[in-house]
Amino acid sequence: MKELKVTPIKNGTVIDHITPGHALKVLHVLKIPESTVSVVSILMNVNGKKGKKDIVKVENRELDPKEVNKIALLAPKATINIIRDYEVVKKYSVQLPTEVIGLIKCSNPTCISNAREPVESRFHVISRDPPRIRCYYCEREPDDITVGII
Ligand SMILES: Nc1ncnc2c1ncn2[C@@H]1O[C@H](COP(=O)(O)OP(=O)(O)OP(=O)(O)O)[C@@H](O)[C@H]1O
Ligand SMILES: [Mg+2]
Ligand SMILES: [Zn+2]
Repeated sequence: MKELKVTPIKNGTVIDHITPGHALKVLHVLKIPESTVSVVSILMNVNGKKGKKDIVKVENRELDPKEVNKIALLAPKATINIIRDYEVVKKYSVQLPTEVIGLIKCSNPTCISNAREPVESRFHVISRDPPRIRCYYCEREPDDITVGII
């Protein structure tokens, strides 16, 4: 059987081992503009060594720590691979810090972090995989973490 391969990227980032079904949420975090001229490949439900996974490949793009932490909330097993001149020159696993600040909106509408006050959202990370967080202010645990990502 013929195997189709995606175009290799010269320089950029491959986000590998994404929880299946979460590639589009990762793209949302990256805010790739519709006007992009870079190569962007999205693979969903491909077979990896440890079962199904999604992969996102973005040319000419590196990630900042905030973006990496948002990806850790969506896909705790993700690896970030930096590509230079077609080769993987750096690889690391995402890892949530013990607190996340300003990355996700609290699902409690009366939480002080949602009031018209300059209070950034703040969550304790109570589990990394599966990701579970609890609001520092109101103690609410969101049902679905992926909904509130800012
Ligand atoms: N130039 C490139 N363009 C696009 N994708 C690339 C390029 N180089 C590597 N990749 C992809 O980056 C990911 C990591 O590559 P690597 O060669 O480290 O694979 P691996 O040994 O299977 O890694 P892991 O153990 O993390 O699964 C793979 O999904 C690979 O297909
Ligand atoms: Mg692999
Ligand atoms: Zn709250």
